[in-house]
Amino acid sequence: MCGIVGYVGKKSAPEFLLGALEKLEYRGYDSSGIAICNDKEKKDKVELIKKKGRIRVLRETVENFKDFFGKVGIGHTRWATHGEPSDINSHPHTGASGKIAVVHNGIIENYMILKKNLMQKGIKFASETDTEVVAVLADYLYDGDIFETVRKTALSLEGSFALGILCSDFPDRIIAVKKESPLILGFGNEENYIASDISAFADRTKKICRLDECEMAVIKNSEVSFYNFSGEKINKTITEIDWNIGSSEKNGFDHFMLKEIMEQPKAVKETLSARCSNNDILIDDLTKEYLENINKIYIVACGSSHHVGVAAKYAFEKLSKITTNTDLASEFRYRSPIIDEKTLVIIISQSGETADSLAALREAKHKGAKTLAVVNVVGSSIAAESDCVIYTWAGMEVAVATTKAYSAQLSVMYMLALHIAKILNKISKEKFEKHFNNLLNLPDLIEKTLEEKTKVFEIAKKYCQRDNVFFIGRNNDYAICMEGSLKFKEVSYIHSEAYPAGELKHGTISLIESGTLVIAVATNHKLFEKTISNVREVKARGAVCLALTTEDKREEIACVADDTICVPRIPPIMQPSLSVIPLQLFSYYVALLRERDIDRPRNLAKSVTVE
Ligand code: M6R
Repeated sequence: MCGIVGYVGKKSAPEFLLGALEKLEYRGYDSSGIAICNDKEKKDKVELIKKKGRIRVLRETVENFKDFFGKVGIGHTRWATHGEPSDINSHPHTGASGKIAVVHNGIIENYMILKKNLMQKGIKFASETDTEVVAVLADYLYDGDIFETVRKTALSLEGSFALGILCSDFPDRIIAVKKESPLILGFGNEENYIASDISAFADRTKKICRLDECEMAVIKNSEVSFYNFSGEKINKTITEIDWNIGSSEKNGFDHFMLKEIMEQPKAVKETLSARCSNNDILIDDLTKEYLENINKIYIVACGSSHHVGVAAKYAFEKLSKITTNTDLASEFRYRSPIIDEKTLVIIISQSGETADSLAALREAKHKGAKTLAVVNVVGSSIAAESDCVIYTWAGMEVAVATTKAYSAQLSVMYMLALHIAKILNKISKEKFEKHFNNLLNLPDLIEKTLEEKTKVFEIAKKYCQRDNVFFIGRNNDYAICMEGSLKFKEVSYIHSEAYPAGELKHGTISLIESGTLVIAVATNHKLFEKTISNVREVKARGAVCLALTTEDKREEIACVADDTICVPRIPPIMQPSLSVIPLQLFSYYVALLRERDIDRPRNLAKSVTVE
């Protein structure tokens, strides 16, 4: 997590840096800071302002400093890993001389050893961070050649690091270094930028270059040079991205989360129309010849993206008849999964930067599998490194709690399952057409489901004071429970658990007591009676039940549940696309009623770029 930015140009660096940091605030919002070289008069030290709290606190402070002006600078927004959120632990960090300032995204794994060695030389540290060791080491090694100093420093570091470095003796440049964490350069008109994510400068340029592993760049306003860690000059290609980043305004909504929930019909429609035309699905990368030779699919992701995989597994196995496993990326990479060239590994990620998902992708490639990424952010690391990409066209998602990206990902996964089934002749032409039409109908049905908004708000008022909530369901209803529960706890800060309804009796039911809220998802008609029996069991033990089912089951479930929310009925494999909507709304409204920081929930970051 954390976001870094840098500017070298002819205009105000602080102005660019603050705006860019605001765009990257989703990467962490514990503290922020900027460092600049004041070119009006050459100084011995870089100038620095850093503050605990949101970027608006930094902005207010910077705007109050009349003399804080420079045309070269670096900035950072922090998600705390080493050391609590505080002014001192904020980036940029400097060494004793104050000449060199460093912003960092990643984790320096050997910082304790380096710190100990430097302390033995009598050097003092101010913060608890791993990053400070980079600044202090560079300061210690500095001999007047800033490039060589940074290069030697980088060679001493272990772990993941994207670095932006400024030196007051060279006020015309910043030095960028990349290992494992993402770092992208933007090329403007007599100004250049660095950032963890293109969105930081996408309003100024579409010309970009991504630094690859163990590469460095020296960035001036009219010249950029690239090097490897051996110090040899290398050539890199500048590409032009065709990406309309979309609006990051609330457009009259109180929160981005609600705006993004309401944008789901559009997100799904645009995602589908990019690949569906003339009654067919266009996925050229997965040919008949290739698909006939695979025997296993892994869907690997984190958080909500993993939940998409869990829901999609049912569609994959039912339609394509290929063994499909889902895995959390953080587990997958360390458990020696059995993968070979007959395995297709699908990585799902909104940001395209999640460290564990990226590592899982690399592991899968290393073992010979073909990798396919389902990604929302164009040009992100996962998109760049996978063998093929299917983009979700959800537009920029600002709220930390994902909603529209989740729905767009799910629609891609149905599309994929259907495409594979068709290519492998696992379904009839008629069945394909039926599923295909259902797929294209999803945006309208999601729209219809969103009309239940007011009802969900009324139900949220009734239950918003509960302290424990259980989400239960079977098969892909359980997959939706996993997502519903994550969304709910993420924004409401209320403890919740998702449980396969049939597993309750194996332990969890002992937690059910008078007044416990159980949200039962029962949209699968084959399993309806079984889930209803589980509802009766928890009700017999004092639970209150909110049921989520299809419209045609409204009356049946009303006899058992205390409250009911209904969604339109569609074939079970695609039902999660509709069932998730009321659960997103319920989470949003409970968080609203509990006055939570909905778009920026405590302790979280949208893009998890460290392990
Ligand atoms: O960007 P990614 O899709 O790779 O992110 C994965 C998770 O961090 C993410 O889905 C997270 O669980 C969401 N904040 C949940 O709303």
